[in-house]
Amino acid sequence: MAQELRSAGWYAGDDRNAYIHRSFMRRGAPDSTFAGRPQIAIANTASDLTPCNSHLSEVARSVRDGVHEAGGTPLELPVVSLGETQVRPTAMLWRNMAAMAMEEMFRANPIDGLVLLGGCDKTIPSLLMAACSVDLPAVVVPGGPMLTGHFQGEALGCGTDVWRLSEEVRAGTLAQQQFLESEQATIRSHGHCNTMGTASTMALVAEALGTVIPGLAGTPAPDSRLLKAAHASGRLAVQLVAEDRRPSTFLARGSFHNAIVALSAIGGSTNAVVHLLAIAGRLGIEVTLDDFDRIGAEVPLLVNLRPAGRYLMDDFQRAGGFLAVLREVRHLLDPEALTVTGRPLVEHLDGARIWDSDVIHPIGEPLQPHAGIKVLRGSLAPGGAIIKPAAASPHLLKHRGRAVVFDSIEDFHARVDDPDLDIDEDSVMVLRGCGPKGYPGMPEVSNMPLPKKVLEKGARDMVRICDGRMSGTAYGTVVLHVTPEAASGGPLALVRTGDWISLDVQARRIDLEVPPDELAARRPSQAALDGFAKPLRGWERLYVDHVQGADTGADLDFLVGGSGSAVRRESH
Ligand code: FES
Repeated sequence: MAQELRSAGWYAGDDRNAYIHRSFMRRGAPDSTFAGRPQIAIANTASDLTPCNSHLSEVARSVRDGVHEAGGTPLELPVVSLGETQVRPTAMLWRNMAAMAMEEMFRANPIDGLVLLGGCDKTIPSLLMAACSVDLPAVVVPGGPMLTGHFQGEALGCGTDVWRLSEEVRAGTLAQQQFLESEQATIRSHGHCNTMGTASTMALVAEALGTVIPGLAGTPAPDSRLLKAAHASGRLAVQLVAEDRRPSTFLARGSFHNAIVALSAIGGSTNAVVHLLAIAGRLGIEVTLDDFDRIGAEVPLLVNLRPAGRYLMDDFQRAGGFLAVLREVRHLLDPEALTVTGRPLVEHLDGARIWDSDVIHPIGEPLQPHAGIKVLRGSLAPGGAIIKPAAASPHLLKHRGRAVVFDSIEDFHARVDDPDLDIDEDSVMVLRGCGPKGYPGMPEVSNMPLPKKVLEKGARDMVRICDGRMSGTAYGTVVLHVTPEAASGGPLALVRTGDWISLDVQARRIDLEVPPDELAARRPSQAALDGFAKPLRGWERLYVDHVQGADTGADLDFLVGGSGSAVRRESH
């Protein structure tokens, strides 16, 4: 060991403090446990209320074995866990709270290194934000996607097919009873959503960043190779401590460049934008919203997975997995960007191969030539907004239509199917009050279901605009993350039903066609103002007072950056 372990600050010496620290942790452990053995915390987001991560305690056992084998002491540390489908009002409201709680517990405890076990949408982002702020050696083990379920002979994509089937019920083309029967088939095994939704995206993006052992992300949760990789990650954590390889020593701008290239090539979730911006902010690395367009827009879409394509994560792994994708875009990657292994990402790609070119397309035959997330600006979104063309309808990427405005998601649900609502497939649906401050928590509501009467005419997509987020498993021509959000006084707050809005993705424009002087004279509607009432107390109050815009990652202003792992005072 090149330097004294951080945990020696608790355990070394003959004084009363060291006695107390050792005696309470000893529980039959030999003296050697406290003498130079790296203390590796296994930050575990397993929870019965986060079903996507419920298998992580089994994964943790393999990590433990690896840590032991390499000469470390494994310590399982349950951390705040967020189950995307269960936590209300939206898991995003709690991402920063989870990251803050994790960071403080990593710092407060006698820990030398970390193995981060995540899966469901917000768990890997919050673990990484915490690890970067505390800057302890860390490696991520993504818990992996579930196996594909089938219903009536058809593969079901978790999330994506729920949207599709529920729209079919509303359109009258699927019986309610059949819809309910499919519920049993959707979740076939342990693991997170099996589409290229946020969980799959963040696992792969974490690997592109360099924080996962290359080749691990995407391994299905029930696959025994996940346990083998977990064991290797435990071993690696001990090595990371020995070599003092902390996040700040290998994560750099090039790492985020690679993550953005990967995000585009896989057709990943738009949620990765806010998460990557927040992670970069914790490291003090300058990554901007425009980097996603500049680096990612010209990257071809190679992965044929739902919601943008046809297949599911099971197929993705069978077809060669993430390294096969990265090998195709190797020339676009930063060759210097390092991984947690100490070697550049590009050095891990030589053995990768595509086994099914309908699932992972070769670079010469992409699904779309320029698939990355596009950043839009204009009079409706001076701070920026994003759209994922890969999930949109090509004929709507340039569109002009009259706004139909909803002041809240409740207002939307109350009126969307009103037969008297003046709306057709050419209208532009606007939903506001769903940004980080406005909701609060920036929920995934931007992909508003279409009005029943539009569905009945056969239309399946319309232009929708919102200051909230969209589920990574959703699809549609949706302009989201509009900044500044309505609750911060952005122009979105001033749109009125009947205004003309123009969208031109090629030109990167989203404009409200209202003269500036008229806009300046407008005030937000009373219904909108009522919806923005500040929470009185607790986390929601802290969140609303300090959360930043989606254009910088929606982190709290006082959590940006890091404090390192030093503890200022000792109470004994
Ligand atoms: Fe957990 Fe989709 S609900 S990953």
